[in-house]
Order: sequence, then structure tokens, then C-alpha cells
Amino acid sequence: MGSKMLTIALPKGRLGNQTLDVLKKIGLGDVVIESSRRLIFEDEQEMIRYMLVKPSDVITYVEKGVADIGVIGKDSILEENMDVYELMDLGFGKCVFAIAGKKGEIIHQRDEVLRVATKYPKIALEYFSLRNQPIEIIKLNGSVELAPLVGLSDVIVDIVETGSTLKANDLDILEEMYPISAKLIANRVSYRFNYERIKEITRKLETMKG
Ligand code: PRP
Repeated sequence: MGSKMLTIALPKGRLGNQTLDVLKKIGLGDVVIESSRRLIFEDEQEMIRYMLVKPSDVITYVEKGVADIGVIGKDSILEENMDVYELMDLGFGKCVFAIAGKKGEIIHQRDEVLRVATKYPKIALEYFSLRNQPIEIIKLNGSVELAPLVGLSDVIVDIVETGSTLKANDLDILEEMYPISAKLIANRVSYRFNYERIKEITRKLETMKG
């Protein structure tokens, strides 16, 4: 056991719940009360501090070094241009990045530029520019499924997990882009200084992968 607290940034919400389930199986995370409004939980026995943050902010806390490690969707790693060490795939949080819209919506060979609503402007721009298709990005912060329904955009680029949000809004996947999943990331400096402790956690997490 080290003398310093190891700080882990956990994403709030769906991915955070899955992460806590797995952490509990390896004997960690018991101090975290998800229903509370508290943002920091300390396990003095294990010398681990947990911070609950918005999923897309996990990478910022880790890159700046206030968290040593963190759990994050690959989507946030691809969207944010930050320098962190990707330690392992966690085997959960599996989703696909997809272009979605109303059934029959045309993506290619349109007279007008395709309007794409998304929380992920960087990912969407890169994807379409690789095939030389100019698009107009409409940046939203959530509930992007609304955009094609009200004519704000032609399509959306978003992650699809169960597909239930698309279904509930009469939208279809028009094109699957690529799969993504949850990753364990580390601050580059923290990883060197806390190598043994972080390695021990990753070893345990590896045993939990299906
Ligand atoms: C994510 C994503 C989709 C939905 C997909 O949104 O942006 O809207 O989940 O999941 P599903 O296929 O299982 O329905 P999130 O729940 O993070 O909320 P947000 O739209 O407010 O960002």
C-alpha cells in the first residue's frame, strides 16, 4: 500500500454504473454512493479516492493529473485531443458510432450539403472528410435525436448502445461507423510513479473481462 491516495475519475451515469459493478467485483468502489450528490469518496483502507465527473470530463481530470486513472468511453478519447495513456479495454460499455436519421434519408449524392447534428464534431468531421464529403456540423450537447425530427439537421452522428433511443424516436441507423467501448486511462506521469498500484488494479480488471 502506498502512502498517497490513488485518485480514480469515474464517469457519472450509465458507464459509471457499469464501472462500479465491475470495481465492486474486485473489492473496490464500495465507498461510492451513486445516489448521493457527493462528488468525492475516500477509501482510507485501500488509499483510493474516487471522483465522480461528467463522462466527457474524465479525460480532462486525468490529463491534468488531478486524477491518476479514469474510466472513459473511447468516444471521448477520440473527440478530445488530449494526451493520456490508454491502459486497457474494459470489455464493457460496448456501443457503435453511427450515422442515424429518418428511415430512407439519403446520406450521399445530395444536392445540398448534409447537415449533421452531433455531440462529436471532431469525429463526424474526420469521418466525412475521409471520404471527401462536405458537411455542416450542428453541435449539440445532448438529446441529438431531436434534431432530425424537427428539421434542425438531416442526420445525427452519435453512439448507439441498445438502440432504444433511436427506436423511441422513429430513427434508424443509416450507416454504422465503428465500434467503441470503455477504456481505462492513466495520466502519463502518474502511471510511472504509481506503476505497481495501477498494475495491480489492471491485473484484477483483466480477470473480470468476459
Ligand atoms: C447516449 C447517446 C444516445 C443514447 C444511446 O446519450 O448519445 O442518445 O445514449 O443509447 P441507446 O442506444 O441505449 O438508447 P446519453 O444517455 O448519454 O444522453 P444525452 O443524449 O443527454 O447525451
